[in-house]
Amino acid sequence: MDFVDTHTHLYLDEFNEDRSTVVENAIRAGVGRMMLPNIDSATVLPMLSLCDAYPENCFPMIGLHPTSVKENYKDELAAMECWLLDRKFYAIGECGIDLYWDKTFATEQEFVFRHHIDLARAYDLPLIVHIRESFNEVIKILKDVNKPDLRGIFHCFSGSVEQAKQAIGLGFSLGLGGVITFKNNKMQETLKHIGTEHLLLETDAPFLAPVPYRGKRNEPSYIPLVAEKVAEIKGISVEEVARVTTENALRLFTNLRA
Ligand code: NI
Repeated sequence: MDFVDTHTHLYLDEFNEDRSTVVENAIRAGVGRMMLPNIDSATVLPMLSLCDAYPENCFPMIGLHPTSVKENYKDELAAMECWLLDRKFYAIGECGIDLYWDKTFATEQEFVFRHHIDLARAYDLPLIVHIRESFNEVIKILKDVNKPDLRGIFHCFSGSVEQAKQAIGLGFSLGLGGVITFKNNKMQETLKHIGTEHLLLETDAPFLAPVPYRGKRNEPSYIPLVAEKVAEIKGISVEEVARVTTENALRLFTNLRA
């Protein structure tokens, strides 16, 4: 089986001791392609060095994570734009709005997110959107921008059917990770009503490990556990989940096919 982990922060310190083992375990588990969302200017070099070490397996994406939007956000955006001129990236992100941790920079977060939307359009790249406690705010901005050429992923989606349809209606796919395996997760019901053509698999490693590793460090080799849960809910085989979600990833990340 051939899986894509569309969201993994493998360059973070949590993997300093065994990063290459983690990548090799993922490849052995069938997760041959891992998409790396950036966080801020400090994570770009570690991210790129991992992608250079595994050019067939690890692919960089560039953005400023909403929880990293602080006083210096203009410098951070300028640094990102320099990188975009310099290197091939596969998406813009991780970006979006986070109203869970800290609302101090909510206005700046919106400014930065809108800037990322402009970059995604300018470079014809998908947008990796973080929506923690901010689904309505993100939808409002996307509707306001109103650009039908936008595409991307609502990362770590666990909303209602209605919310899923709103995201899909705006041209976005839904990123499913370990949360879908958690007991009584709302997304398990939502998923019954959503076509597999809108689904992508992700880990968000090192965070949000699926059952039975819940609470431990997450890693891309756990993607099959997420796929098994999706297969169970949709009443299809794991092979079918792998095939469809990988097809969806290749359709979205057009640069991966090149
Ligand atoms: Ni993330």
